[in-house]
This record gives sequence, structure tokens and C-alpha cells, in this order.
Amino acid sequence: MKGVILAGGLGTRLYPLTKITNKHLLPVGKEPMILNPVKQLISAGINNILVVTSKEHMGDVVRLLGSGRDYGCSFTFKVQEEAKGIANALLLAEDFVNKDSITVILGDNIATHSIKPYVDNFIRQESGAKVLLRKVSDPERYGVAALDEQNVIEIEEKPNKPKSDYAVIGIYMFDHKVFDIIKSIRPSSRGEYEITSVNNVYLEKKELTYDILGGEWTDAGTFESLQYANEILLKYDNTIIDS
Ligand code: G1P
Repeated sequence: MKGVILAGGLGTRLYPLTKITNKHLLPVGKEPMILNPVKQLISAGINNILVVTSKEHMGDVVRLLGSGRDYGCSFTFKVQEEAKGIANALLLAEDFVNKDSITVILGDNIATHSIKPYVDNFIRQESGAKVLLRKVSDPERYGVAALDEQNVIEIEEKPNKPKSDYAVIGIYMFDHKVFDIIKSIRPSSRGEYEITSVNNVYLEKKELTYDILGGEWTDAGTFESLQYANEILLKYDNTIIDS
């Protein structure tokens, strides 16, 4: 299992905080935001990690993370030339992943408790994909999963009328088939290659499972959510709690 952290994008919702600084380098609690996904992957036993970011911010990201020696992991870096959606950025990981499976974390997803149990469940699953869900009060901001008792039935990206309160959060597990799937999808109406389209292909093939994420979680892409991310990480001194 390898890890991928997607840390590109323009971070326009946090402007002017992100005018100079990459969103994923902003302070959350006592550390730059990106260290939370790094520590999450390491807590799940994933030590081989690809970081994708834009060329404007790659220098800063490399200066912070280095080789990985300080964190007990190994980093590889890839430049995302243009922001064409999460699935498009993930395609940059194809050579790095090769025939392995991956856990992908969007760099602004902050979680207090280790994702290890879900990664272990996925490893037992052997193929397909897994998404992590979380009940939220504002589902229209996220990918939203319609559920029956056992399964995800459908995922909609930022729906006007959400069919449930369950957001698909930005931590995903995929087998190596994900890259062929990305190459088969079309851009959405907002012109992006959506990770939701990728998950829906796994769903159609009946190869998508889900777990409900425990502990505390937020994305940190808006001023309000960034403030909440600060609160929850300060509470645990930026350490990852065993789940
Ligand atoms: C992205 C995904 C969305 C997911 C969210 C989690 O949205 O497209 O499906 O629920 O991350 O943080 P974004 O925040 O990039 O708009």
C-alpha cells in the first residue's frame, strides 16, 4: 500500500491567506496543515508517500517535508501543472503506484483519530475501492452518499438536494485499476475530473465499500472550517490518536 497526498489547487476560498502560501502549509494547531495527512498515513503503516502540488508551491513543500527522514517515511514529489480536478491530479500517481493499492488523502482533510482500522479493512478487501463517510450538517458542500442498509447506492457531487447527510470525505482507498477508470471518465459540468465520478464507476461494478469515520474530522478549505481544524488539532496537541 502506498500513500498519495493531493496538495495542489488555488485555495481561493481562503484568499488572501493563500495569496503567497499554499493552503496546505497554513498553520493548523501547532503545525502546517499537510503534516496531519502525513501522520495519518504513517499511523496506518504507509511509509511510501507521493505528494502532488503546484509548481509555485513545490519549493516550499519540499523545504518543509524533505526526504521524509524526519518523519520516518519516504516522500516522492510530482508537479501538477493545472488544476483540472482531483481525479486529474491523482493520475500523476500512476507510475509511482504501479500495481500497488493506494490510500489518497486530500491535503485539507484533517482527522484526529487514526485511519488504520479502515486501511486494514481495505487491505482485507483485496480489490476495488473504499470511501469514508461522515454525517455533516451541510452536505451540499461535499460528495454525498445515498445509502440503503448495507450499501452506497449513488454518490452525487455537491448536490442542491442531498439524498442523505453523509458526506464522502477526502480520504479514499483504491486498487491500481483506479488509473484506467480515471482515463475513462469525462469532466463534470464545472469542467473538473471529479473523484466522485471515479467512485461511481467502482459503485457500478459493485466494488465500492464504505466505513464511517470516527473521531473528529473537518476539511479546512474555508475560514470557518480552518478555525475548527485548529480547535480539534490543538485539543490533541497535533498527535494522531489510536482508533
Ligand atoms: C472535494 C470532493 C468532495 C469531498 C470533499 C471532502 O471537494 O470533490 O467529494 O466531499 O473534497 O473534503 P472540494 O472540497 O475540493 O470542493
